[in-house]
Amino acid sequence: MKPQTTIHSSLRTVEWKKNTVVMIDQTKLPNKLVFVKYTDYNDVANAIKTLIIRGAPAIGVAGAFGLALAALQSKAETKEKLLADLEKAKKILFETRPTAVNLAWGLEKIMEVAKKGKTVPEIKESIIQTAKKMAEDDIVTNMTMGKHGAKLFDNNDTIMTHCNAGALATVGYGTALGVIRATKESGKKIKVIATETRPVMQGSRLTAFELKHDGIDVSLIPDTAVGYAMAKGLVTKVIVGADRILRTGHVYNKIGTYQVATMAKQHKIPFYVAAPLSTFDLKSNPDDVVIEQRKASEVTGIAGKKTAPDDINVINPAFDMTPPELITGIITEAGVAKSPFEESIKKLFKSKM
Ligand code: MRU
Repeated sequence: MKPQTTIHSSLRTVEWKKNTVVMIDQTKLPNKLVFVKYTDYNDVANAIKTLIIRGAPAIGVAGAFGLALAALQSKAETKEKLLADLEKAKKILFETRPTAVNLAWGLEKIMEVAKKGKTVPEIKESIIQTAKKMAEDDIVTNMTMGKHGAKLFDNNDTIMTHCNAGALATVGYGTALGVIRATKESGKKIKVIATETRPVMQGSRLTAFELKHDGIDVSLIPDTAVGYAMAKGLVTKVIVGADRILRTGHVYNKIGTYQVATMAKQHKIPFYVAAPLSTFDLKSNPDDVVIEQRKASEVTGIAGKKTAPDDINVINPAFDMTPPELITGIITEAGVAKSPFEESIKKLFKSKM
C-alpha cells in the first residue's frame, strides 16, 4: 500500500468534513491506510482512548472536533442546556488520556467560545468554526516551529528521534518531524535514526513509515540500541516531541524519552524537544502530572502473539519525565527556549501575548 500524496502536505490526520470527523486509523498503519468517520462524540472519545488517533496536538484537535459533534448532537433549545450537554461531553473526552495537556487545552478553548455565544445556533456554528481553525493553525504552527528548529541542525547531521512526533501526531507536518522536514527542505543533507518505541511501536509503525514515504533517509533501531548507536558515533543530535512541558522545562513525553536524553547527555549529544505553546502547562508541578498507565497486554504480547508467561505482573507507563538539565533547547513556534528554562519559557509566552 502506498498513499498517493506526501503525508505532510495533503493527508490530514484529522479533519472536519460535512459535519463529520474524519481521521486516519493509526492502529492499522503501516499496513493499511484506513479512514474512519464519526458523527458521535462518544466514538471520538473511544478513538482517542484506543489510539486510533494519538499524539498530543492531534488529540487536542480531535477533542475540539468531538465537542463540535456534541454540539450538533445536542437537542438543547437553550444556551444553558447546550452548555450542560457540552460539559458532559467534555468530561467523557477529557477522561480518555490524562498526560498530554493539549487535550485539555483543546476542550477548554471550545468551552470558552461556547460560553461567549448568545443563541444555540450561534454557539454551534462558532464551535465548529473554532475547531476547524484550530486544525488549520496546527499546521501553520508546526511549519513555523520547523523554521526555527531547522537553524539548529547542520548539513550531514544524523538525528535520532523517539516515538512519533510527526504529521500523524498532529494535524499535519509534525513537531519533531516537522523540524526534520524543514531541515531537509532548507537544503541540508540529513539522516534519521528512529527507535521502535515499544510497546506500541509508534517509531516503527508511524515514524519510519512517514519518513520513508517522504523520501527522508531513515534507519530503524530497537529501543535497546540507543546506547550502542550513540557510543558508536552514529548520532549527532536528538529531537523528540512532548505531551506536556512545565514552566520549569520538565518535559513529559513517550516512555523511554528519559533514557534517550540521559544517554545523549552521557555522549555530549545535543537533545532538543519540539512542541507548540499549547503543550505547555504553566500551572502544574511534577507531582501533579498524571502518567497514563496502559493495559498489560501491550507488554505481554506483540501483534497478538503472547511473549510473556500467563499472569505476569506488568508495569506499563505510557510517558516519562525528562528533567531540564538534560535538554539543550525547546523549539516552539515563538522561538527556542534554552536554560535557564523558567526565564526563557516566560519570555516566549510574553512574546506571543
Ligand atoms: O501515546 P502516544 O502515541 O499518544 O504518545 C505520543 C508521544 O509521546 C509523542 O511524542 C508526543 O505526543 C508528541 S507528538 C507531536
